[in-house]
Amino acid sequence: MKPECILINKEVQQFVAHIQLNRPRELNALNTLLMTELRDALQQLDLDDSVRVMVLSGNEKAFAAGADIKEMAEKNTVDMYREDKFSVWDAIRKIKKPLIAAVSGFALGGGCELAMMCDMIVASETAQFGQPEIKIGVIPGAGGTQRLTRAVGKVRAMEMILTGKFISADEALQAGLINKIVPVELYLEETIRLASEIARMPPLAVKMAKESVLKAFDTSLEDGLAYERKNFYMLFSSKDQKEGMKAFIEKRKAEFRGE
Ligand code: HXC
Repeated sequence: MKPECILINKEVQQFVAHIQLNRPRELNALNTLLMTELRDALQQLDLDDSVRVMVLSGNEKAFAAGADIKEMAEKNTVDMYREDKFSVWDAIRKIKKPLIAAVSGFALGGGCELAMMCDMIVASETAQFGQPEIKIGVIPGAGGTQRLTRAVGKVRAMEMILTGKFISADEALQAGLINKIVPVELYLEETIRLASEIARMPPLAVKMAKESVLKAFDTSLEDGLAYERKNFYMLFSSKDQKEGMKAFIEKRKAEFRGE
């Protein structure tokens, strides 16, 4: 069935898929249907050998202005617990292929959290990031207090989360929240270019690299180093490792197949 709240282009470039959040009238507010469709699409693309990297964008005005406040406003604690909406977010966190956010305009609340769940963030010069949940009586709920703090440090995260103020693309770059700033008319193209660059790398090594970097966020250095080492050894069973090293020695371009 065709999704209602997202647009999927499975091959925006070779090996690169693009998902666009598509509730423009609501500034891409993340309602349950959108998040479920996004989870389903990402899981399918994650298993599809013709896709190596995924790009996630909104539109020029908004990446996403947060969870859908109108959908949440009347809920009580039991509703929230029973609906278990965060299991969708947990599933997105487990996507193995690289996911790159292309952010223009508002990335607020759950929108900022969704961008931070991606592996990299390319922003247009109009991008604004914020966790304004405090202004509506709650706090970030999809990882904002944890991921923002890890990305920008305690004092900046505190300021954003306690005041709800937005930061500009420039401030986000300076704080280490995003990879780069691109003029608004080029931000999506540039994100797809970055995705294509990664898609030319050996896919198994790319997945294991992602997995290993993410491990750094929830383990001790000792365990993280052991995890990295096992992945490193494991790649010596792949044909792409043989091809990559042979191509280097033969001074030719490697042909990676994900095997
Ligand atoms: C539902 C939203 C929405 C949201 C915007 N809209 N954000 N609807 N949920 N999060 C709707 C508006 O109601 C309006 O619809 C339309 O989108 C356009 O928005 P405006 O407010 O008219 O636009 P503008 O004046 O340009 O202001 C833009 C804005 C503002 C600054 C982004 O919309 C805003 O503050 N939005 C809420 C941001 C926020 O608090 N996000 C955190 C949500 S909580 P109508 O039909 O009224 O014209 C959260 C928790 C995460 O994310 C937990 C994990 C899931």
